Amino acid sequence: MDRAGAGQGIVPAMKNLSGKQIVLGLSGGVACYKAAELCRALVKEGATVQVVMTDAAEHFITAVTMQALSGQPVYGSQWDTRQPNNMPHINLTREADAILVAPASADFLAKVAQGRADELLSLLCLARPAQRVPLLLAPAMNREMWAHPATQRNVAQLRADGAVVLDVGRGDQACGETGDGRMLEAHELCDELISFLAPKPLSGRRVLVTAGPTYEAIDPVRGITNRSSGKMGFAIARAAREAGAAVTLVAGPVHLPTPRGVHRVDVVSARDMQAAVAAAIAQADVFIATAAVADWRPAQSAEQKIKKDGSGQTPQLYFTENPDILAEVAQSERARSGALYCVGFAAESHDLLAHARAKRERKGVPLLVGNIGPATFGQDDNALLLVDAQGATELPRASKHELARQLIAEIDRRTPGVAGKS
Ligand code: CTP
Repeated sequence: MDRAGAGQGIVPAMKNLSGKQIVLGLSGGVACYKAAELCRALVKEGATVQVVMTDAAEHFITAVTMQALSGQPVYGSQWDTRQPNNMPHINLTREADAILVAPASADFLAKVAQGRADELLSLLCLARPAQRVPLLLAPAMNREMWAHPATQRNVAQLRADGAVVLDVGRGDQACGETGDGRMLEAHELCDELISFLAPKPLSGRRVLVTAGPTYEAIDPVRGITNRSSGKMGFAIARAAREAGAAVTLVAGPVHLPTPRGVHRVDVVSARDMQAAVAAAIAQADVFIATAAVADWRPAQSAEQKIKKDGSGQTPQLYFTENPDILAEVAQSERARSGALYCVGFAAESHDLLAHARAKRERKGVPLLVGNIGPATFGQDDNALLLVDAQGATELPRASKHELARQLIAEIDRRTPGVAGKS
């Protein structure tokens, strides 16, 4: 094959919550406005969303809005007669895959921590089959309320009882103060839920990913770099995290948000990247090098801006080769003994299979992932060609997130027996 996925249409993005039944609980807080967006995002991902609201929540957003967005009648009272047996707290939880309360107010956290059940939402949190139906809580409150020992005590108790208390965001608050306690954004909560419900084949494993371009300075204001956007590497870091791995992402200069739960180390040049990888590699079981590392850097970087001198003479630039980070890691003792599994990437412009095969040999890695660089730089989709000792496997054109998940599954299949694998 000459070009992975050439001529094929984009495979429609998989819905990450297809078939999942989610109870979305709203307690009272200004962050209820984000719950509308969250509900929409969950439905878009294929979930069936059953909204349950406290009286306090209905002061901030109407049940009509939430019904329109979820496409389901909203429940607000344990005395609701729409359920034939009059037991909404039982019926709404038995088929659920998860309960997500967003926003979870300070008062609501206190209630659930104490096992109180004087209204439908806290009642159904208590009545859920706890082994089967996880409870995720997205706190939202003023920073003083969040920092108060009573709230922190309740959070600790809730975690000890098995609930998942999500992080809070930091920043401007509706009250005009600034600090910790904002509810996470709708897309972040949706990602948290997708990640929480995803299978965890990489649980206990540690994955190190490099991503993005490097920037090699010519002088303080100029440099050479390349068109890598970092999107594929970031998607891989996210997919590895979703699959349960502890992930470190060494990123060249890119403007991409850090995938939730991923430890990010920002670097600029190839040598910075080499140092960051060297510092983290001993703790990794899998190394995935997606970065488009500059092959050369200017032999000397001028300390001051190079100025035109008016003579019409152009400056002479001399280059020196950068370290090959992947090849160095692949030659290490741990990689050669199989304790560390190395995956390389090849961005080519033509003859993908031949170049990918040759590069796999040259880099000394068990798995080399080829793609056509110019067709994918900056795009949200891609097509991959996996080359290993057994041959070549094509992952047809799809979103980078989807391909990243498939690649992680392929790496999981090829790494039996590494630490943490059951
Ligand atoms: N790589 C690296 N350090 C470098 C160059 C490349 O770690 N200095 C890694 C990349 O992250 C990628 C793989 O090696 O996983 C292939 O990189 P690529 O630049 O495509 O290969 P090169 O060896 O530079 O070959 P060429 O530029 O001739 O295609």
